[in-house]
This record gives sequence, structure tokens and C-alpha cells, in this order.
Amino acid sequence: MTVLVAGATGFVGRHLVPELVTHDEDVVALVRDASSYDPPDGVSVVEADLNDRASLRGVFDGVDAAYYLVHSMGEDGDFMEQDRTAARNFVDATRGTDVSRVVYLSGLGGERATLSDHLKSRREVEHILSNGAFDLTVLRAAIIIGDGSVSFRIVQQLAERLPLMITPRWVRTNCQPIAIDDVVAYLVGVLDTPETAGETFEIGGPDVLTYGEMVLNTGEILDKRATMIPVPVLTPKLSAYWVDLVTDVPKEVAHPLILGLKTRTVVEDDRIRSLVPVELTPFEEAVTQAVA
Ligand SMILES: NC(=O)c1ccc[n+]([C@@H]2O[C@H](COP(=O)([O-])OP(=O)(O)OC[C@H]3O[C@@H](n4cnc5c(N)ncnc54)[C@H](OP(=O)(O)O)[C@@H]3O)[C@@H](O)[C@H]2O)c1
Repeated sequence: MTVLVAGATGFVGRHLVPELVTHDEDVVALVRDASSYDPPDGVSVVEADLNDRASLRGVFDGVDAAYYLVHSMGEDGDFMEQDRTAARNFVDATRGTDVSRVVYLSGLGGERATLSDHLKSRREVEHILSNGAFDLTVLRAAIIIGDGSVSFRIVQQLAERLPLMITPRWVRTNCQPIAIDDVVAYLVGVLDTPETAGETFEIGGPDVLTYGEMVLNTGEILDKRATMIPVPVLTPKLSAYWVDLVTDVPKEVAHPLILGLKTRTVVEDDRIRSLVPVELTPFEEAVTQAVA
């Protein structure tokens, strides 16, 4: 089967592409700048920008299935609008081709009206992709733990750099992080499991923690012990500015993520466990691997 990966240069894409190769798929990496991408052996590369319709002409010829691992946070301009345009262009470019399956990695957080713009955008992309002429499988994940994950980098740098934290209320919000290897196992597994076509699933690791516990436990693994002093008044917006001071994550990416921390991101529907069995990595093992 020929499988295209949109977002091949990203954190998840870089882990998924080699795994697809070992599963004997013919892999096509869709990248915006081929000169800065060194593909694993056997992977073909197409250069295209999902926000540029013309560049997508012919990209899906001969492709049977695709992964959508793209978001626009950190781009110039309105990331929600760019997410919409990219998803619409993807859907249009796949029309009239052989693409019959698409897998999209989205964000956990249910359907609450109070979702942050980042999570709203993830839902909008789900909706736009569901209008494609292919069977869509959506996997929704919370923070993915692995080297190169921007959301985990925020956790790691807070743990490394702050011995004393004045913490906002969101440190008590529950989250169900998942190791990158487990995400990749689900991404590969759903493509091999026809029953997952046309469905939305929630994926998470074996441990539910508060964001505060994630930072403190990561600190212990890094041998940095921190103390947290919760205060009721620190809003997510204020703490986003504070994260700017402590981490090197660009604010265009960090702010939308931090504003999502008020939302509980815990698996409420675990149907995927019986369809695609994955031996889940405990939080501490996932962090140990990520920081190694
Ligand atoms: N990381 C997490 O903790 C996490 C958690 C839950 C869900 N997810 C979801 O997982 C997916 C992948 O996330 P990630 O962490 O791998 O993100 P990432 O490392 O920031 O990668 C984003 C990818 O999107 C590509 N991209 C952006 N705009 C594009 C465009 N106009 N045309 C073509 N490609 C474009 C980027 O290409 P360039 O290299 O050219 O910029 C990059 O390959 C996203 O849907 C995200 O919402 C991630």
C-alpha cells in the first residue's frame, strides 16, 4: 500500500515514517522544504504546501492512504484560519484519487463549548476532513511524551528550570499523557484495522496525572525537586506569559497550548483498546526515554 504522511517533518511524523517503512508500506513524505528533510531509506518525498492549492496538484496520484499530522500554530497569521485552509485543500486534492483511508491525530478534550482556540481548531479540522471522499479515522491524544514534542518540552523545561513555582489553578487539571511509541503503534494499528474506518477514538497512556504532578514527577526523574505554591488568581493567560520567561518554546506555539490547560484531557471512551491492543508505556518510563 502507498501511504502519504502530511507532517512528515514534525515530531510525530518523524517517528511514524520509519515505523511505516518497517511495516513494508511504500511511504511518501509530504514536506514543504525537501532540501531540509533527510528521508529514511526507501521513502519518497513530495514537496507541497497545504496552504497552496496549486502545489498539491498530482501529489495524491497513486496514494492509497494518508496520515494528517499537521497544525499551523507558530505560523505567521491566524493559525485557526490556516488550519481550516490546509484541511480544505487536503480534502479537495484527494478528490478523484485512490485515497480511501485517512488517519488524523487530533487533540483530547471532548466537545466542550469552553475548548481553547487550539482545541477548537483541532475539532474544526476533524469536521473538514470528515467531508472527504475517504474513510477518516480520528485519534485524539493529550500531551505526547517524547523527544521533540513541543508540549512535553514545556513540561520538561519548567521542571528543569524552576525550583519554586507559583502555580495557577490549571496545575490541578487532569491529563492523560501518552508515550510517542504508543501513539505510533495506534497510528499504524488503525490503518491495519478496517473496523476503525469512519470512527473517532481517544488514546491515552496508563496514568492519569494533574499537570502539576506531570511537572513534579518529570523533575524527580531529572533529579530536580521543585516546590509548588498554588494561587487562585493566576489565569492561564498570565501563566502563558510566565512560561515565555522560563522556556524557549516560541510564544506563538506556547500560548495556544497553555490556554488549553484548563481543559481536562482524559480518555472517556476507550473502545480503541479492544480494536488495536497496545501495551501502554507508564508515564515515568516514557519520560525517562524522552529525556535520555
Ligand atoms: N505533540 C503533541 O503533544 C500532540 C498532542 C496531541 C495531538 N497532537 C497532534 O499531532 C499532530 C502532529 O503534531 P506534532 O507535534 O508532530 O507537530 P509539529 O512537530 O509541530 O509538526 C507539524 C507538522 O506540520 C507541518 N505543516 C504545518 N503547516 C503545513 C503546511 N501548510 N503544509 C504542509 N505541512 C505543514 C510541519 O511542516 P514544516 O516542517 O514544514 O513546518 C510539520 O511537519 C497535530 O495534528 C497535533 O495537533 C500533537
